[in-house]
Amino acid sequence: MSTPLLAVENAGRSFGGFLALEGVTAAFQPGKVTSIIGPNGAGKSTFFNLLSGVLTPSSGSIRFKGRDLKGTPQHEFVHLGIARSYQITTIFPDLSVHENVRVAAQAGQWRYNIWINRKKLSDLDAKADSALEAVGLIGKRDETAKFLAHGQQRALEIAIALVSDPEVLLLDEPTAGMGPEETKDMVALLEKLATQRTILLVEHKMKMILGLSDRILVLHHGRLIADGTPHDIQTDPEVRRVYLGQNHGYA
Ligand SMILES: Nc1ncnc2c1ncn2[C@@H]1O[C@H](COP(=O)(O)OP(=O)(O)OP(=O)(O)O)[C@@H](O)[C@H]1O
Ligand SMILES: [Mg+2]
Repeated sequence: MSTPLLAVENAGRSFGGFLALEGVTAAFQPGKVTSIIGPNGAGKSTFFNLLSGVLTPSSGSIRFKGRDLKGTPQHEFVHLGIARSYQITTIFPDLSVHENVRVAAQAGQWRYNIWINRKKLSDLDAKADSALEAVGLIGKRDETAKFLAHGQQRALEIAIALVSDPEVLLLDEPTAGMGPEETKDMVALLEKLATQRTILLVEHKMKMILGLSDRILVLHHGRLIADGTPHDIQTDPEVRRVYLGQNHGYA
């Protein structure tokens, strides 16, 4: 089999004496949508923190295109092609929609160009606008970010992650706090993005996950208890017991 895009081998992470993630092994092939589900506190965000360099694993390894990411600083993950959005909205509320994305585009350039020239600046503007175009926010380009609807703010966060043109996009609960209408829009956006990138998604909304995912991983108390197609996961007795049987899963 060819080298996976992203491979996690026996990865664990502890906080003090507490094991938030333990012995997780999984490999991700390009062009697929993989969802990570599990009850609150299962370790989903911790898993994303390891995959995006926010935290280093306490044990095990993470490889991107065969390269061990051990010791790689967080900002380098974006340059390699791994970008993410966060569970809690992390935009600059007082900047315009365009400025929010442009700041992210600039952050990717500054390390290399201290004397950034006029041409470069207009390139950054164009990059930012194309990310806004991709998430359907170009019409809101000059609005102050805090005045956007919640769903639009979540889409803006995705534009911020997209501006580096990542191969792998990690999205931590992109529909958190959304009602049915906003969720529908987000699903349409994710379907569009999935045609061009590898997406890892943390979500609680089961109907959405089952419809969108090629594959689902289930975490429980920091351990991977299942890994399979939506059909495998729906019919897995252990998964039903720890997760799907709970009321919150079917929203
Ligand atoms: N920085 C940290 N310091 C200490 N404990 C942490 C830290 N980050 C996460 N934890 C703990 O690790 C466990 C897993 O947390 P994590 O945020 O990964 O869960 P999650 O699956 O994303 O949950 P949720 O669905 O509520 O977002 C929890 O018990 C959490 O309290
Ligand atoms: Mg989380």
